[in-house]
Amino acid sequence: MAEVETKGSDHPLTTVKLEPGEKVALCRCFASAKFPFCDGTHTQHPGRGPAVVEAVKKE
Ligand code: FES
Repeated sequence: MAEVETKGSDHPLTTVKLEPGEKVALCRCFASAKFPFCDGTHTQHPGRGPAVVEAVKKE
């Protein structure tokens, strides 16, 4: 499961650590109630959408 850590308040920096093979949708509209993860709220803002990030498993 993704591990999330946010540091700072004026210019917060959020780090998301993924397990190999894990895939998440990260919010790029800053409207998500589940930030930094997308909750679909971006559909109320045309032209905005998530970034899908996947930690590829190496074999
Ligand atoms: S809710 Fe922000 S990109 Fe989906």
